[in-house]
Amino acid sequence: TAMDVLKFKVNGKEHTVGSNVSSDVMLVDYLRNYLNLRGTKYMCREGGCGACIVTASKTAGGPFVSVNSCLVSVGSCHGWEIKTIEGLGNRKDGYHPLQKSLAENNGTQCGYCSSGWIMAMHGFMESKKEATMMEVQNAFGSNLCRCTGYRPILEAFKKFAKDAPKEDRLMSLKNLSLCKTSKGGCCKSGCDDEEDWCMVREDDLGETETKKIVLKDGKIWYRPRLLKDVYQILGEN
Ligand code: FES
Ligand code: FES
Repeated sequence: TAMDVLKFKVNGKEHTVGSNVSSDVMLVDYLRNYLNLRGTKYMCREGGCGACIVTASKTAGGPFVSVNSCLVSVGSCHGWEIKTIEGLGNRKDGYHPLQKSLAENNGTQCGYCSSGWIMAMHGFMESKKEATMMEVQNAFGSNLCRCTGYRPILEAFKKFAKDAPKEDRLMSLKNLSLCKTSKGGCCKSGCDDEEDWCMVREDDLGETETKKIVLKDGKIWYRPRLLKDVYQILGEN
């Protein structure tokens, strides 16, 4: 009957699980094999590695919490709104600040674990609008990375903490949660970092053109579009 139809949204698009799919198929396999969303990875299949993390909400538009997609069957996702790494940001629509920060801080090597880390951080950010660097660090007990040694990953995310050193700080978690950069360009969503530390660039093609911005204290700031140029201005490489 119509009541038996399994439906959920993935990255804003409604999906009806076909009768060819058993309701005990795990969400990770459904995403990868039926929806072709292979940014979500898997390894342990028992909730221990975090490679499969996506975020999900039971109410339209969030808040989203992290979910290990290897642990939930499609049968338990009825009515959910699910977000995968592809929905958070992608090459075509623009990358999310979390994706950019991880890439630009060398927090990704083979990349296999990266989507899980980013989605776990996305879930954390949705639950906690402000966090300290220590809270960010302690939020990750179940993501494994075999390559990076963890430090660069945590450094990339700790830059969003409220107590991050000013020269490191990218954007507060609160503003990050407002940031809709996957649409490309500054989202103008009411974030008060926009004039100052917004790392949004108008495209992802490597353009380095600067934009003149008058800061709140009257100083003129030439905002480079690429974060690495910010680091150069700060005297870092
Ligand atoms: Fe899901 Fe490891 S595959 S936590
Ligand atoms: Fe290779 Fe994390 S970058 S597993």
